[in-house]
Amino acid sequence: MTSSAELLEIAVTVARRAAALAQQRRYDGVEVAASKSTISDIVTQADREAERLIRGALEAARPRDGFLGEESGGEAGESGLTWVVDPIDGTVNYFYGIPAYAVSVAVVEGDPDPATWRTLAGAVVNPVLGEVFTAYEGGGARLNGTPLHVTEGVGLDLALVGTGFGYDPEVRLKQARFVAELIGKVRDVRRIGAASLDLCNVAAGRLDAYFERGLNPWDHAAGALIAKEAGARIGGLGEAPGGRELIVAAAPDLFEQLDPIVQEYYTRW
Ligand code: IPD
Repeated sequence: MTSSAELLEIAVTVARRAAALAQQRRYDGVEVAASKSTISDIVTQADREAERLIRGALEAARPRDGFLGEESGGEAGESGLTWVVDPIDGTVNYFYGIPAYAVSVAVVEGDPDPATWRTLAGAVVNPVLGEVFTAYEGGGARLNGTPLHVTEGVGLDLALVGTGFGYDPEVRLKQARFVAELIGKVRDVRRIGAASLDLCNVAAGRLDAYFERGLNPWDHAAGALIAKEAGARIGGLGEAPGGRELIVAAAPDLFEQLDPIVQEYYTRW
């Protein structure tokens, strides 16, 4: 059986290759290929090309595993493992040339559903900054090989909190209303624009906490494991694990302060 550490090696290799391709295509000139859920939810040619590269490389290296990707959908495997891939997380940043986008590759055991899966390994690569965030289950989190740990001992009033907004105008309006409630209670709020990097930023102590509603599995699969392995507590709506309805990530002491406020709003949603 392949160990989680070995699976991580594969994740890192394919994520690095796709990140280099995405960065090259960014220099060549970005082309919007289509809009998805709304007119602002775009997909570029580079998203599709990067996902093709990753899917092809994984099929060659791990032919019995399943695949779930943002651009090309899912295919069940026979091994019980599934690769969950966002070829470019932060597509809008990518489109504008803001250097906060990343390739996210995770491998999970069980159905590719955040409610029940077990994430074994994950890599998030930001090619512009040359940053490779990695973790495998039980092995700790690293940035370019250096161990990461969340910042502990930060009170809510001094917390720098990341979040994101969905593409649907009605949904994002509700999300913004909550931010309006929260912003008076914390140090400040950041909307960086790539959920995978938000979670890695919690792992690296660049954010104290992060929450978002409406994420897709590929947005958080790798980043949530990296944050968890760096010592973060990760939760979802109520007792559920982090997923589409809600994901909250923070050092355990800050989580205890932030989570009830987030829950209060999002259970009313
Ligand atoms: C989006 C980003 C963004 C988050 C959105 C995601 P995409 O992913 O992660 O930060 O707020 O919810 O959909 O579309 O850039 O892959």
